Amino acid sequence: MRRYFVTTFGCQMNAHDSERIKGLLEDLGLGEATTQDEADVVVFNTCTIREKPDQRLAAHLGNAAALKRRKPGMVVAVGGCYAEAQRERIFERYPFVDVAFGPGTIRHLGDWLGAGGVGVARHSFGTAGERRFSAELPTQRERPVQAWVQVSMGCNSVCAYCIVPQVRGREVSRRPGEILAEVTALARQGVREVTLLGQNVNSYGRDLAPDATTGFAELLRAVDSVDGIERIRFTSPHPKDFRPDVIEAMAGCDAVCEHAHLPLQSGSTRILKSMRRTYSRERYLRLVADLRGAIPDLALTTDVIVGFPGETEADFLETLEVTEEVGFDGAFTFVYSPRTGTEAAAMPDQVPEELKRERIERLIDLVQRIAGDCNRQRVGRTEQVLVEGPSRTDP
Ligand code: 5AD
Ligand code: SF4
Repeated sequence: MRRYFVTTFGCQMNAHDSERIKGLLEDLGLGEATTQDEADVVVFNTCTIREKPDQRLAAHLGNAAALKRRKPGMVVAVGGCYAEAQRERIFERYPFVDVAFGPGTIRHLGDWLGAGGVGVARHSFGTAGERRFSAELPTQRERPVQAWVQVSMGCNSVCAYCIVPQVRGREVSRRPGEILAEVTALARQGVREVTLLGQNVNSYGRDLAPDATTGFAELLRAVDSVDGIERIRFTSPHPKDFRPDVIEAMAGCDAVCEHAHLPLQSGSTRILKSMRRTYSRERYLRLVADLRGAIPDLALTTDVIVGFPGETEADFLETLEVTEEVGFDGAFTFVYSPRTGTEAAAMPDQVPEELKRERIERLIDLVQRIAGDCNRQRVGRTEQVLVEGPSRTDP
């Protein structure tokens, strides 16, 4: 039997897509290898949100090239956002790559490999304009009790720093009936927690027939009513689209976890405007207050970027202030990374690297102190937890 090995970079949507890639390869009759060295088909599901994942991929591909020199029959496949962004250049840059595909064209991998994973059409790329939900593919899930559920693909926002709309395209929502059928089947298989995934989950349904019952609030209620699903999570919402009906649905649904991941990006209204986030510091804080008013004991996490073009010390101090004021339970913190083709990459006043480094260190210190405080407040309390598996750092 030929064996595959999939390496995943990036966000939860990529984790979801990798499970589909594995499902598709299993369907072709391949089995999973325990290491990359033992694999006949190695797949990299890539990310291109910042420069760092690009660099990590380059190192991984270097290893794959060396392996392939020893094992010429090995197939190297590169999928995901980096592949999509580099579709014109990928085979030039990495001539040992056999096939490449974007996040919307995963199923092509099956066409190229053929039964048993032999017959490779070299240097093929899934063509644009024929994007499909990866959720339509078979799956090989990592965890028995937890599942990702794709609710939409693509993104209609125009955040000045972000490459995602270019690589994942315009937003398309999955039909509610399909989502519910999948969740119902998962519950029957023993899944207890589902995470609803979309680049902007709470604009879900706006592209579907405008016949009322297709918004994100209705979707939450419908998933909540599926027998056996005890926990519902979702990511990521955009603050601009977090409407009162969604807050009400979160408060009213037993299974929806008391958690919102609410990407702040910056605490400065001036920088938010330049980022095209379409909310102000005040509006963000009002949303936090509304959420906390409706959902007692709500956990809040966020994403923050430091060093966006034009960010001054005063802007950065506003980010620290908002971080402190909200008291996030956790935050993903990023140094701004210019992405070719985005609006912000061409802006004047790029912030020098050392200044970005200095700011992110200050932000991380604050985030860790606040998250520690939040955790300490829970000591001695009885909480419901889901055991996902052994810790990666300490089994
Ligand atoms: N540079 C740094 N961080 C970025 N993000 C998106 N684009 C960039 C970029 N060019 C961050 C945002 C987003 C998270 C997934 O990644 O904070 O919410
Ligand atoms: Fe990376 Fe964004 Fe693509 Fe996810 S959607 S894999 S974070 S570039």
